[in-house]
Amino acid sequence: MKRESAVGGKDLRSPAAPEPMDEGPAEEPGRVSSAIHELDRVLGGGVVWGSAVLLGGDPGIGKSTLLLQALHGLAAPGRSVLYVSGEESTQQIKMRSQRLGLSSPHLYVVAEAALENILALTEQVNPAMVAVDSIQTIYSVDLESAPGSVSQVRHCAGRLVHEAKKRGRPTFLVGHVTKEGAIAGPRVLEHMVDTVVYFEGERGHSFRILRTTKNRFGSTNEIGVFEMNDSGLHSVTNPSEIFLAERPLGAPGSAVVPAIEGSRPILVELQALVCPSGLALPRRTTMGIDHNRLALLVAVLDKKVGLSLAQQDIFVNAVGGVRVEEPAIDLAIAAAVASSLLDRPIDPHAVLLGEVGLTGEIRGIGRADLRAKEAARLGFRRCVLPRTNLDRVANLGGLDAVGVGSLKEALDQVLR
Ligand code: TYD
Ligand code: MG
Repeated sequence: MKRESAVGGKDLRSPAAPEPMDEGPAEEPGRVSSAIHELDRVLGGGVVWGSAVLLGGDPGIGKSTLLLQALHGLAAPGRSVLYVSGEESTQQIKMRSQRLGLSSPHLYVVAEAALENILALTEQVNPAMVAVDSIQTIYSVDLESAPGSVSQVRHCAGRLVHEAKKRGRPTFLVGHVTKEGAIAGPRVLEHMVDTVVYFEGERGHSFRILRTTKNRFGSTNEIGVFEMNDSGLHSVTNPSEIFLAERPLGAPGSAVVPAIEGSRPILVELQALVCPSGLALPRRTTMGIDHNRLALLVAVLDKKVGLSLAQQDIFVNAVGGVRVEEPAIDLAIAAAVASSLLDRPIDPHAVLLGEVGLTGEIRGIGRADLRAKEAARLGFRRCVLPRTNLDRVANLGGLDAVGVGSLKEALDQVLR
């Protein structure tokens, strides 16, 4: 008797055989390039054969645009690619392709939302890759619930991922993110796929950041930076320059920090605005940085540096719609807040680095050399950093490294 599991069609009479860890080659998975530099890098060096990739993000952020550009790139060498859209008509997709100046004879597009039809289609067309936009619009006739419901999303994604594995066919799923940040419907989608990339950015900004939160075939927390304009999304290979392009030189409340995103340093401008509050509970508003971190730094500034912030509203923003969340940016946040309060600008040629401890000490950080190099490359002349990191960055051409041990000392160094 042949027993089949409900999802896999797996033959239970022949269970998999365990292999010793030290035998056989540990092969790098085969990859193909999407011809989009930043997407390839986020995926770990290209699209892995047979992998399932979830592309998440807020509605309108640019998921379909990125996908369409990537599919054109993947289809360019004569690979057949099927783009299934449950959201837009084929006419709309063709018009968008035209507007982006893209055309490929091997990229097929179909407007279809029924899972069974999609599976039949892939059987018939037998494309090298499939993309489904979006998983929330796809439904199976086997289930009674509405498209976008947890059971539909889970069932449809499960079938599509299974097909991807069985045929070794890379499959992209687009998923909308809810306000709370979870992929609408179930978070369970993230467990089913090999790679999860989120497209993020502020609506009003042209920058978009593609972030990996899960990758079975590469490192997570790698990011790709894009700029959206009339001709679509463009890879940004020099993000530091772009993020600093509009920096107000010599304005109080502006600090620059070499943050590390994934494996690369990116210079980010942090801005703070401190002004007297009329509220019983003054505001603490952050964009792009951790709210609790700001609360902690404000307490340290108050208690250890003697700055009176209790009656002040405080706003802190990471410029360009980026999110930076690492302790190494503490000093820059604290300095920006102090600078705004005191109305004294921070040395515009200096970058600031360091974690701030609860006693007001400046603690060592990782990758100081890499960060300082990026600052030097962009023409900064001073790097204020933890004293314990000083030996790592001692001789960097043109960059004067200043070691500090406490927050007070650091502020004395940079506030003019
Ligand atoms: P889209 O890819 O449809 O977003 P999603 O699939 O995530 O919902 O992108 C929608 C926005 O992108 C839309 O507001 C217009 C803008 N856009 C551009 O600015 N330039 C372009 O070349 C394209 C195609 C879209
Ligand atoms: Mg879309």
